[in-house]
Amino acid sequence: MEMYDSLCSPLLDKCQSEKLNLLFYKLYNKIMSDVVSSFPFQIHSFEEYEKSYKASIEQPENFWASIASNFYWKKKWDKVQEWNFSEPKVEWFKGAKLNITENCIDRHLQKLGNQAAIIWEPNNPEEKTRVITYSQLHKSVCQFAQVLKNNGVTKGDRVCIYMGMVPELAFAVLACARIGAIHNVIFGGFSAQSITDRIEDSQATFIITCDGAYRGAKLIPLKNVIDEAIIENKKIKKVIVFERTQNPVSMLKERDVWWKDEMKFAEMQLENDVSISTNAEVMDAEDPLFILYTSGSTGKPKGVVHSCAGYMVWTTYTFVNVFQYKPGQIHFCTADIGWITGHSYIIYGPLAAGATSLLFEGIPTWPDAGRFWDIVDKHKVEILYTAPTAIRTLMGFGLDPLQGKDLSSLKILGTVGEPINEEAWHWYDENIGKKKCPIVDTWWQTETGGIMISNLAGITPAKPSWATLPMPGVQPILVDEKGKEVIEKNDLGMQKGNLCIKAAWPSIVRTTYGDHGRCRNNYFATYKNLYFTGDGAIKDENGFFRITGRVDDVLNVSGHRISTAEVENAINMYAGVVESAVVGYPNEIKGQGIYAFVIYNGNQKELEIIRTNILQTVTKIIGPIAKPDKIQLVSGLPKTRSGKIMRRILRKIAEGESENFGDITTLLDPAIVEEIKNGKI
Ligand code: WT7
Repeated sequence: MEMYDSLCSPLLDKCQSEKLNLLFYKLYNKIMSDVVSSFPFQIHSFEEYEKSYKASIEQPENFWASIASNFYWKKKWDKVQEWNFSEPKVEWFKGAKLNITENCIDRHLQKLGNQAAIIWEPNNPEEKTRVITYSQLHKSVCQFAQVLKNNGVTKGDRVCIYMGMVPELAFAVLACARIGAIHNVIFGGFSAQSITDRIEDSQATFIITCDGAYRGAKLIPLKNVIDEAIIENKKIKKVIVFERTQNPVSMLKERDVWWKDEMKFAEMQLENDVSISTNAEVMDAEDPLFILYTSGSTGKPKGVVHSCAGYMVWTTYTFVNVFQYKPGQIHFCTADIGWITGHSYIIYGPLAAGATSLLFEGIPTWPDAGRFWDIVDKHKVEILYTAPTAIRTLMGFGLDPLQGKDLSSLKILGTVGEPINEEAWHWYDENIGKKKCPIVDTWWQTETGGIMISNLAGITPAKPSWATLPMPGVQPILVDEKGKEVIEKNDLGMQKGNLCIKAAWPSIVRTTYGDHGRCRNNYFATYKNLYFTGDGAIKDENGFFRITGRVDDVLNVSGHRISTAEVENAINMYAGVVESAVVGYPNEIKGQGIYAFVIYNGNQKELEIIRTNILQTVTKIIGPIAKPDKIQLVSGLPKTRSGKIMRRILRKIAEGESENFGDITTLLDPAIVEEIKNGKI
């Protein structure tokens, strides 16, 4: 190994040809897989899974202590777990000191220094791939951490990150974690108004952004959006701008600085003073690591807070077990880092496991619908983790885009974000996995930090459209409306209810930023002493779970969580709109589509203009992902005498039901149902 290192390192640095460069890394990864032993906590058989599960429930302290002992701690914990769901207060590995980035980077340097940590595939296939080794990642992260310090960022500061999918986004995230600043990544598809709300709620004082981002054929002018978002904000101290697209941007004197210049300066500093080069802030186990905003059933997104130690242990443990990761493999998670999936399974989980994580800047359908398969072929991807909506979209293009693409490197496939229908599952299995790759259907949420219910690839059985079994440490329970555990089984031996979790696991949400009461009300108050997921589920006679979808007013559009209340608020801001009601309806590609019923009283323009303007308003207030697919103008909404909108009826109409609306006698004006039904689009 050492011989290989001394031989290859200088070559790798000098290697200009992309092809040769990639070849080296492939060879390197192959060698690594023989040299590095697999993970001590990897589960290798169904029996082992059952044993681990039992141990995790019966002796959680011992179980998690033994797993956590595989990480690098500056000080060990005093207590493995301490929690109650009534406040809620949850602590894992209390008293321990660590820095998550030392676990994701530094501890691998000796063995994996020259292994690719990140392989970056640009939006445009003509552009060069970038390979970032663990050593290079270390250098860039330390350097950017120094940039943050130079610009006045200190431990606990909130740093808002609004960037495209470039390696610098990963550097920025890790550099924040390195110095103990709390990152808040905002997906590039959110509008200026959404950013303003998130910056205000998290009281962020620093921003890291790009001039622009490429997504397919589009260029998104990120810096312009930021400028609009903080136009009235006097609290932002610095905006650091990474140059990616070279579109014109405004740079405000003293506030806005270029990434490149700052990095150059930091590099000089680090060269002159080696002592500051590896300074990782010593963090308490329960210090917050990041905030990530997500929609709930109210109009205002919540800042979900995760803390350092538990999140690290959980994302690594689940990554290694669910995907059965073997050293040297290339893992391709197609999510955006702006969502929790990207945080946990592009950055933290894979890097803490010393894996090679592929970061893709673009979209699955550009320049054509064969893009994912080109990437798999080019990089010999072994694990592919994507969303049902992407699978359904690509399925719609038929098998042509697969022609001539060598997918034989694939070993494991995964899905996340929404229930996967059987048709899509089988298409994925047959055409992508060629029936030789286990598919893991991973159920989890922003609030759970990592995968909660899933089969373990090739180890525990898969069942199409079922997430199957809980991870060790996860105790799911189905309850009825009153919170009573569902015991009764139907004729098929299945139970059906609202999905809750009985006990804390290491990466459970700690609080909602700035409003702990909201965290309690949202997740811990519906049912006493239970974490309520907001999802409905069924459980079969083997104890397998199938997630049936949200039971609250949250939509899942293309795997993105959108609150109906948020969309309604945005629609109501359009001049002339009196009131609106938004519901979901089945959509073949997106899973759910957004249907808006709108009472409009303004200047009666052309219907099409009103619709377009409403769409524009929603795009401005939230972002294009929240645009309704259908807008129906109505003269009234089905309301009870107490003024509550009966969404159940609207949902039925949106789904195309023309009768069976149930009891509508309590409605203030039952005739409205007929009118709305007749006007359905
Ligand atoms: C909601 C969480 C978890 C990262 C991506 C979304 C739905 C997620 C599955 C799955 C059925 C799923 C649930 C959940 N969901 N994975 N495998 N099967 N439904 O994170 O935005 O926090 O959304 O996505 O409804 O509550 P999120």
